[in-house]
Amino acid sequence: MSAIAQNNLDGQRALVTGATSGIGRAIALQLARDGAEVLVHGRDAARGAETVEEITDAGGKASFVAADLADAADVQRLGSEVGDVDILINNAGIALFAPTAEFEVSSFDKMFAGNVRAPFFLVAALAPGMAARGRGSIVSVSSMAGGVGLAGGAAYGATKASLEAMTRAWAAEFSASGVRVNAIAPGPVYTPSPSGPEFITALGETTPMRRASQPEEIAEVVAFLASPRASYITGTTVAADGGRRAV
Ligand SMILES: NC(=O)c1ccc[n+]([C@@H]2O[C@H](COP(=O)([O-])OP(=O)(O)OC[C@H]3O[C@@H](n4cnc5c(N)ncnc54)[C@H](OP(=O)(O)O)[C@@H]3O)[C@@H](O)[C@H]2O)c1
Repeated sequence: MSAIAQNNLDGQRALVTGATSGIGRAIALQLARDGAEVLVHGRDAARGAETVEEITDAGGKASFVAADLADAADVQRLGSEVGDVDILINNAGIALFAPTAEFEVSSFDKMFAGNVRAPFFLVAALAPGMAARGRGSIVSVSSMAGGVGLAGGAAYGATKASLEAMTRAWAAEFSASGVRVNAIAPGPVYTPSPSGPEFITALGETTPMRRASQPEEIAEVVAFLASPRASYITGTTVAADGGRRAV
C-alpha cells in the first residue's frame, strides 16, 4: 500500500461512497493520509467501522455514514444529511455480467439505480454548495468497460459510459464556479468482486501491461484528481487500465 502522504487536503471534508470495501476503501485511506476528514459511506456498518478505525488509528479523521444508493429516497437523505463537503468521490457501484439475452430486468434496473441515478442525485445535492463556496472536486469511478466492449458487459458498460457523459456535462455546468469534475476508468482491480479473482486475472492479461491492478494504484490517481495538484483538469476521464483502452 502507498504510504505517500501529500498533506494537500488539510481542512477538506470528503465523502467517499462505497468506502467499506475494495477501491473505495483504498481511496478513503489515501484521502485521509493526505489530510482530509473522510465520510466513509456504505451499507455494511461493521466493515465501515473497520475503515474508520484504520484511518483514526493512523491519526486521521473519519466517520461512517450508511445509505442504500439503490434507493432514491435514501440517496436524497444522504445528500441532505452529510452537510458541506469539498470532495465527492462517486465510487460505489456494482458490476453484473451476463449474456444480454439472459439479463434480468431487475438486475438492469438495480445497476442503473446504484451506478447512474445515485451519483446523479448526489451531485445534484452537493455540487451547488461547492459552487456557492467557490471550490470543490468531484471524481467518479467509471470502468474500462465504459469504453471497451466486454462480452456480458453491455449493461455494466452502459452505466459507466453514462457516468462519463455526466462527468463532461457536470464539468460544463460547474467548472466556472470552481468545481472540477472528473472520472477515472480503472482496468481490472483485485477487490472482493463477485466474479472472483480468476476473472480479474484473466482480464488483466488482456492489457498491454499483462496484469490487473491493486486498489491502491487506483486510489493514487483519484487522490491526485481530487487535490489542488490537478488544478487545471476538469471534464476528463483518466484511464488507469494498464493501457487496455489505448491499444
Ligand atoms: N474491481 C474492478 O475490477 C473494477 C474495475 C473498474 C471499475 N470498478 C468500479 O469501482 C467501484 C468500486 O468497485 P469495487 O470492485 O471496489 O467493489 P466492492 O469491493 O464490491 O465494493 C463496492 C462498494 O460499493 C458499495 N455499494 C455497492 N452497492 C451499494 C448500494 N446500493 N448502496 C450503498 N453502497 C453500495 C459497497 O458497500 P457495502 O458493501 O457496505 O454495502 C462497497 O463499499 C465500482 O463503481 C466499480 O464499478 C471496479
